[in-house]
Amino acid sequence: MPKHATVKDYIRTIVNFPHEGIMFRDVTTLFADPRGFRMAIDQMLHPYAGERIDKVVGLEARGFILGGTIAHQLSVGFVPIRKKGKLPGTTISQDYKLEYGEAIVEIHDDAIQAGEKILVVDDLLATGGTAAAGIKLIERLGGEIISCAFIIDLPDLGGRKVLENLGMDVHTLCEFDGE
Ligand code: PRP
Ligand code: MG
Repeated sequence: MPKHATVKDYIRTIVNFPHEGIMFRDVTTLFADPRGFRMAIDQMLHPYAGERIDKVVGLEARGFILGGTIAHQLSVGFVPIRKKGKLPGTTISQDYKLEYGEAIVEIHDDAIQAGEKILVVDDLLATGGTAAAGIKLIERLGGEIISCAFIIDLPDLGGRKVLENLGMDVHTLCEFDGE
């Protein structure tokens, strides 16, 4: 892989995955490149230099890769939000809308203490439904969300507005439109 200038340059687009007409933004090519991965993590961390963050919450599945790495860099704990039925302990659940139908995400009910400062991490912000469900779970446990960090924003799908309407600070590294 040649040296690229920006994080966006490392992201591959797969046409018609998982359905006809979908342009899938594939971050595995970014994660697999040593410069690309480091650049993405460094840029995601940059806005929070000097801020108090007690825990990083990652959204399944690619948010685990990014969130775990960011938590390690900050020397704080990592907490997963998972799809229903995957977490072994006592959980609280939140449903959210998908393109077709609904899904449920869960968090362990003892994973966050009231007042803890939380950074939410995922790879991609589309409709904002996944992140909004995660935000609700964290807030139900009393966590104070400092910010939500993503690599990709799909502005046509309006997720940033959804999260900002929930009072969130949102950081993304690059945008893809429908091209
Ligand atoms: C993708 C992506 C985000 C979410 C964004 O995950 O990784 O988590 O969709 O979409 P939204 O803003 O419209 O909610 P997906 O649900 O495909 O699951 P995965 O990460 O487990 O593969
Ligand atoms: Mg996801």
